[in-house]
Amino acid sequence: MSQNPNSNAAWLERLMTVECQDATYPVAAQNHPVVFDSARGALVRDVEGREYIDLCAGFGALALGHNPDCVQHVFSKYAPGDASAKFPPIVHGLGDVYPSRAKIDLLETLKSILPRHLSRISLAISGGQAVEVALKTAMLHSGAAGFISFQEGYHGVDLGVLPVTSRSDFKLPFKKFLNDRIAIELPYGCDMTLVAKAITSLKSAPCGFSGIVAEPVLGRGGVINPPENWLDGLAKMAHAHGGLLILDEILTGLGRRGKWTEAESVDADLVCFGKVLGGGMPLSACAGKEAVMSAWPKSTGEAIHTGTFFGHPLSCEVAAASLREMKRIDVCKMARETGAWLYELLSDRLKPRPDIEEIRWGGGLMIAIHYKDSAGPAPGAVAMDRLRALGVITLASGRGGTSLSLTPPLNISRDLLAQALASF
Ligand SMILES: Cc1ncc(COP(=O)(O)O)c(C=O)c1O
Repeated sequence: MSQNPNSNAAWLERLMTVECQDATYPVAAQNHPVVFDSARGALVRDVEGREYIDLCAGFGALALGHNPDCVQHVFSKYAPGDASAKFPPIVHGLGDVYPSRAKIDLLETLKSILPRHLSRISLAISGGQAVEVALKTAMLHSGAAGFISFQEGYHGVDLGVLPVTSRSDFKLPFKKFLNDRIAIELPYGCDMTLVAKAITSLKSAPCGFSGIVAEPVLGRGGVINPPENWLDGLAKMAHAHGGLLILDEILTGLGRRGKWTEAESVDADLVCFGKVLGGGMPLSACAGKEAVMSAWPKSTGEAIHTGTFFGHPLSCEVAAASLREMKRIDVCKMARETGAWLYELLSDRLKPRPDIEEIRWGGGLMIAIHYKDSAGPAPGAVAMDRLRALGVITLASGRGGTSLSLTPPLNISRDLLAQALASF
């Protein structure tokens, strides 16, 4: 045990005796260990009181940063001794059986910022669960179970979505449990002839063709943009063959790329949201067209897709407050403008370096620094560790950690970004 019981190292040692070894990141424990304690905006403090600039923002989940006023305001209602209400707000509304006012408010708030055709919403807790709802919806709608997904695409690791997540290292240990014949994986951005061929192949298989699942920009895959109009082509191709287009906007949606959703311009049937949606709370959603979502049977008192914490009122209240604030301050515009500025700055400063291949911009505040291939350890992961020691939180991404992703809060100040960039 380290000397100081309140040091990062001591806390990490404790963690490593209780958490599953798959979850704890031992490299972080050795190289400048960090255990977070508190946070506000884009600043995070560790248990030793050291401050970090957070350019990761909870894997891109915090549009307004940590603990924004609008979220604090919701929590303050729960403070003991609040005489303004006889009862504090409800924290659990019994899911789909007894809905809460907070859930209804969130659903209406989310619907108000989405394109009109995405008129029905199903709530869940994690991103993977929202994608699972989309896959199930497509199956109910088409009566088929075969999907097309893309290389380096990430859709979560729950068993229901693993077949469409690209990473073989995530799938291999569970291969015996997975039906790998239900998903055909194609190169991201591939030609439509390949897509047509894959659809034909699924159609002639027992699973049939149900839909195409795609991220508008590969996120975990290292911020890779598709060719122009590619998503549009996917929608047309899916529809021509009786299938659906599912856009996974868990990372890209609700402002991250400077717009609420790619479905503003692409005829997607189902769109998945997570991360930013909860305002920091675990919450996700699958929004879809009326005709598609009505493939679900009408509830007769017991839903066939449900969960104890679906529509959790406290999460819904925080999410709705956060969405309203995002709309009020126009985070989409902020993300577009700050993102363009940051991209220029990074390109000017880093592109001439011999170890850097390119700076990738996914639009808004979704940027990756992509390193040249090297024989040594993954350069994105090395950069992430070094930056952490210098007080900047980032995230390695891309195949084998060859990139470093930046997904800061959408309202981060340029001063703070410039301060962080000094460490690059
Ligand atoms: C595009 C995309 N889909 C799905 C997921 C899974 O979300 P969660 O980790 O909340 O299950 C992620 C998470 O990073 C993601 O980036």
